[in-house]
Amino acid sequence: MIGKAKWKTLLRFLLLTLLTDHSMCESVSEVPEILEMAEEVLEAEGDHIKGDTDEGPDMEDMWIHYALLDLAYYLRSHKFNEYDRRYITDEEKAVKEYYKRFPEPPLRTFQWEVHKRCSLGFIECLKYSTEITNVALLQKDADPYYIARKKGWTYSRNRDEIARTNTECQRLFKEDWESPVPFVGPIHRFQWRTTMSYYMCLFTLREHPDLSLFGEPCNNYANCWMDGKPDGLSDPRADDRVPFNCARFSFCPDPCCPIKEISSFKDCDKDRSNPCPVDIHNRTCVLEVQKNFNLQSMAKNHWNLTCHCKEKGTRWESRFGLCVDINECEEGHHNCSEGFETCLNLKGSYRCCCAFGYYWNSNNGSCDPMQSIIDRVNEATLIQRPDKSELRKGGHRKHLKKLFFWQRKQEETTEATILKANSHGSSILSPSLPFCFILLISVCNLILTGSDSSVTS
Ligand SMILES: *[C@@H]1O[C@H](CO)[C@@H](O)[C@H](O)[C@H]1NC(C)=O
Ligand SMILES: *[C@@H]1O[C@H](CO)[C@@H](O)[C@H](O)[C@H]1NC(C)=O
Ligand SMILES: *[C@@H]1O[C@H](CO)[C@@H](O)[C@H](O)[C@H]1NC(C)=O
Ligand SMILES: *[C@@H]1O[C@H](CO)[C@@H](O)[C@H](O)[C@H]1NC(C)=O
Repeated sequence: MIGKAKWKTLLRFLLLTLLTDHSMCESVSEVPEILEMAEEVLEAEGDHIKGDTDEGPDMEDMWIHYALLDLAYYLRSHKFNEYDRRYITDEEKAVKEYYKRFPEPPLRTFQWEVHKRCSLGFIECLKYSTEITNVALLQKDADPYYIARKKGWTYSRNRDEIARTNTECQRLFKEDWESPVPFVGPIHRFQWRTTMSYYMCLFTLREHPDLSLFGEPCNNYANCWMDGKPDGLSDPRADDRVPFNCARFSFCPDPCCPIKEISSFKDCDKDRSNPCPVDIHNRTCVLEVQKNFNLQSMAKNHWNLTCHCKEKGTRWESRFGLCVDINECEEGHHNCSEGFETCLNLKGSYRCCCAFGYYWNSNNGSCDPMQSIIDRVNEATLIQRPDKSELRKGGHRKHLKKLFFWQRKQEETTEATILKANSHGSSILSPSLPFCFILLISVCNLILTGSDSSVTS
């Protein structure tokens, strides 16, 4: 048995070195030091990963496939069995809940080697991972669940064989747990597997094509636990027939449904741990891939989830854990006409007001330019110079005086409006409301002063 496994490992290494030499052409010339740069590399990656191999694409795929399955097993072992090695020394008291969320607080720094290799892209990351998974004491191929599958054993007919492999697996599990080869110690491995999970989960949510289907079940906790469930878990999240299910089940926590095992998705909807509002009929929580793209946010468990909201015009905001009003104006989801209308956000909806210099013409239901304001603006900018005869009669002075008072009045009204708005406290709720007030009042004021002056002069 052991000899075979060693051969296999050796073969894999050989294959790996061969492949490494061939695909060096796509390497990145500099090692990015900071995360932002890593993100950029990851961003650009998707395009050249596949399709540019002129030789043996099948061999490459096969290698990726095996490396991936091994890593998935290794990280599931972390997700379902590990506890926070940084703070907890007594395993008895430890909670093992990384199926709920990534460790909190997050790692202060990413494990440097994982970060260095995985920030170069998916393939580099996977190549590096095999250096660890190939020497780990407990590997996927020693799990009775996989052995039984490969040999076509059934629980009823091969009870003894299964029991024997089970015992051997448990022994390896214990040994691996106590001396985590090739790491310095459990904390070192904790950091490694946590960082690796961050990266692999990111690749999963970015839907790297190699992660789509595993081609074999992943419905186990990677802990040799065959006793109760010889056929594996019946958790629908571990159903490999759905793309990315196994990758998610192995690499990502499930903040939408932080339950270790479910038998159907209905279990999530009913459960108290479901983050969606309780007072709503449809509590389907969705972790949308396109809204979860940032490595650091993921590490901090700043997941962006989608829930249904009861009230119209509101949306679930994961940051607050609440349904909040959608600001249609800010997001541009309004149909106010550009130029002569402005958008006013209201609770649950919005309204279009006439923009500055326009008035609501109820005859034809549109905002029309206000001629008197256009005249005022022309006056204010002194486009028309007063002619000499008017200057002599003191017309110029009169004109400036008028302008001065008009401007003073403007400032006073604006100040008064701001004070009023502040004392009502409404500006906190909706900053655009007092603004609209100011506009309205200034428009009214303009009309009034406009008609006044036309009477006096
Ligand atoms: C509940 O919400 C989800 C996600 O928005 C949707 O796909 C599903 O059809 C809804 N179910 C019901 C019963 O309305
Ligand atoms: C969630 O969305 C916010 C806002 O767009 C973003 O800053 C954050 O990085 C997202 N979280 C993840 C995990 O990508
Ligand atoms: C703008 O949208 C509202 C509803 O969102 C609708 O009632 C209104 O008719 C629309 N106006 C125009 C000009 O399309
Ligand atoms: C509405 O009627 C006014 C005259 O009352 C006219 O000046 C304006 O152009 C009309 N607007 C539209 C959009 O037809």
